Formats: sequence, structure tokens, C-alpha cells
Amino acid sequence: MIKIAPSTNPEKEENLIEYVKSLEAAGADYLHCDVMDGKFVEATCLSSQKLLEVSQNSSILLDVHLMVANPIQVFENYLKAKPSIVTVHYESFSNAQNLVYMLQEIKKRKIMVGLSIKPQTKIRDIEPYLPLVDLVLIMSVEPGKSGQTFIDNSLNKIAELKNVCEAREYNIKIEVDGGITLNNVKAVADAGANIVVMGSAVYKAENKAEFLQNVRAKVNG
Ligand code: DX5
Ligand code: ZN
Repeated sequence: MIKIAPSTNPEKEENLIEYVKSLEAAGADYLHCDVMDGKFVEATCLSSQKLLEVSQNSSILLDVHLMVANPIQVFENYLKAKPSIVTVHYESFSNAQNLVYMLQEIKKRKIMVGLSIKPQTKIRDIEPYLPLVDLVLIMSVEPGKSGQTFIDNSLNKIAELKNVCEAREYNIKIEVDGGITLNNVKAVADAGANIVVMGSAVYKAENKAEFLQNVRAKVNG
């Protein structure tokens, strides 16, 4: 069964708690928490303090996506909110040892550890790290903002990753993030995604519970 993770990014931080409550009431599986530091990507959003506040006002499972230049420096701050998943970017690390250290540090906390790749990064680039992760987050747009168009080649990357995981018997969840709508969610799920992030599509939907039901019906239909 596909999991749906609406993202924090389209909503302004001052309205975030109310927005999260509406997502929880609508039956979202996770809250996908987009953290941006103004360095890895241009925008800045979601401080660890704000995330803590979200966690204190809701019991939705938190899926933290760290789009930051130095995850080792900041990740601990985000653990205060007790996330279920913490994902770092492959491209944030110029040094393989640091990446391995980061993945192991998250794993030690008994949190699902995710590794994300930007659209230009190949599945083969992350193959050595797959035994260390619980989840791979395939970016289907350039990270940085909501509301962009899905890059179609992402479907091939999802299928490729699924094949690698099956061949090597890795138990890894595949999450896909960026440009997912009611029109392409079935293709994303059929390619092998287990979790779909939806930012603007959920944000724009007036009736969020009905929208999430429609997504599930599309995927299952
Ligand atoms: C993009 C973020 C996404 C974004 C998705 O950098 O990582 O999580 O919020 O939004 P949509 O679904 O609108 O592309
Ligand atoms: Zn994201």
C-alpha cells in the first residue's frame, strides 16, 4: 500500500501548525518536512525549533528531508522532534567517509535513515551505500521549491533502484519527491515507489481527505 507524505514546503511557517493538523485529519501517512539552509538550495525553511513545535502539536509521523550543505552539523537539532525518517543528500558530501558516518549516526538513533539523490545523480553512484540505508529518496525535480514539473526520467531511476534492491535482497523503501500529481502518481507507484511526497497537489486541494482518497484509488485502480 502506497504511503502519502504531503510536504511542509508550500505552506508559510506561520500557518504550518494549522496546515499540519488538517493533513493529519485528512489521513496523511507522513508529514514530509522540507528543511532548506540557503546554501544547498537557495531558499531557507523549517527551523528545528519550528519542527519541534509541529511535533508538540500533532502526532503525525515526521519524514525529515535535509536539503542542507552540512547535515552533520544540523541533524541533531532536528532529532528533538522525534522524526520517523531522516534523509540526507548524497550531494551534500564530498567525502565518502563523512557520508558513511552520517548514515551510521542516524541509524544508531533507531530512526529510519534515508539517502536522497538529485535528478542528475545516478543510481549507481549510491550503490555502495545501499546496505546502510532504509530508504532512498529520488528527487523528481531539482530540490529547492514546490510546484515544479515532474522529470519523466525519474520513472526509469525508480525502476532501476527497485531492480537493484530486488537483485541484492535489500529491504529499502523508495520515496519519490517533486511534481507528483493525480495524473502521474500511478506511474510513480507502478515504477516501484513506496512513499510519494506531494506538496502543491495536496496544498491546492480544497478537500484534503477526498484528495488523498483519490490518490489511493488511482494507485490501486
Ligand atoms: C522540493 C521539495 C519537495 C516539495 C514538493 O525541493 O523537496 O518536497 O515540497 O512539492 P511539489 O509536490 O509541489 O513538487
Ligand atoms: Zn522534499
